[in-house]
Amino acid sequence: MTTSHSDLDSFGPDDERMLKAWLSERRHLVDEALRRALPAPDRWPKRMHEAMCYSLFGGGKRIRPVLVLAAFEAVGGARDLPYEAALPAACGVEMVHTYSLVHDDLPAMDDDDERRGRPTNHKQFGEGMAVLAGDALLTEAFAAVLDTDAYGGTADPALMTQVGRGLSRASGWLGMVGGQSLDLGMESPVITHDELAFLHRRKTGELFRFSCWSGALLGRGSEAQCAALGEYGETLGLSFQVVDDVLDELEDTTERADDAAETPSFPALIGLDASRKLAAELADRALASLEGFGVEADPLRRLAWFTVHRDH
Ligand code: IPE
Ligand code: IPE
Ligand code: MG
Ligand code: MG
Ligand code: MG
Repeated sequence: MTTSHSDLDSFGPDDERMLKAWLSERRHLVDEALRRALPAPDRWPKRMHEAMCYSLFGGGKRIRPVLVLAAFEAVGGARDLPYEAALPAACGVEMVHTYSLVHDDLPAMDDDDERRGRPTNHKQFGEGMAVLAGDALLTEAFAAVLDTDAYGGTADPALMTQVGRGLSRASGWLGMVGGQSLDLGMESPVITHDELAFLHRRKTGELFRFSCWSGALLGRGSEAQCAALGEYGETLGLSFQVVDDVLDELEDTTERADDAAETPSFPALIGLDASRKLAAELADRALASLEGFGVEADPLRRLAWFTVHRDH
């Protein structure tokens, strides 16, 4: 992949191989950091810990935390700093994401029985415990971001404050939760293109924006670099949610197909083929935000390809 090229078609088998190796190493770093952030239980309530870990270590793709690391690398952070400098933000966003899924599956929301091929958290632990496991993951996310000792000796209180506030904003009223509330509030699956894009940007784009922006910030990127990577993240998040809707639509269980029919989505609005095309266009637009970056941003370029070509 050449850095002057900014479209998904320039992606070849070598890129796929490199992405696979890159992802496996970064996912390992994230898993270890999450284990450190949420240590083994030696105190009650152990069932709560089990419920949190069931979803946190339940086979997620880890796309948001690896975006934090990819953005950290893109601004050259990995040249002078240890990965620990970015891992607290990576852990924080994955905890918020996991809580959002636990609550998203509840009967009061999407009412899903299965996630990642296993019973959903509330099917396994009961509704009350799933609500609490989500609450605990949300609050632990901020403990992870604000843990001075987790930054490998690089903690900077001013940056930590910005990251904490950024995660809060991306998660709350103006971010993921706000988007989820719009999702719930839509009485018809058919809304306008702009309304749906707004909803998707809130429910998914904001956490993607946070991931890339915070990775760049913790890698000591310039203001312009942080803004460009935040832009990349938000556009990629929109593309990611369009692909998620396409995959939901293709899923063959009747329950999911029924849900997909009730939820506002691009496949419902413009059809499957146009949605796939839109996802690719958005990923290309995200790639364009990386034009000022060198080879250090290649993992981000490859992740844009992954977003569009993934099968789950
Ligand atoms: C699913 O996100 C929910 C969306 C916002 C589309 P992911 O597809 O990242 O979920 P996991 O963590 O990999 O299962
Ligand atoms: C969920 O969107 C987005 C969140 C913020 C949790 P979906 O409801 O489409 O996610 P899936 O398909 O259940 O993973
Ligand atoms: Mg939902
Ligand atoms: Mg759902
Ligand atoms: Mg979905």
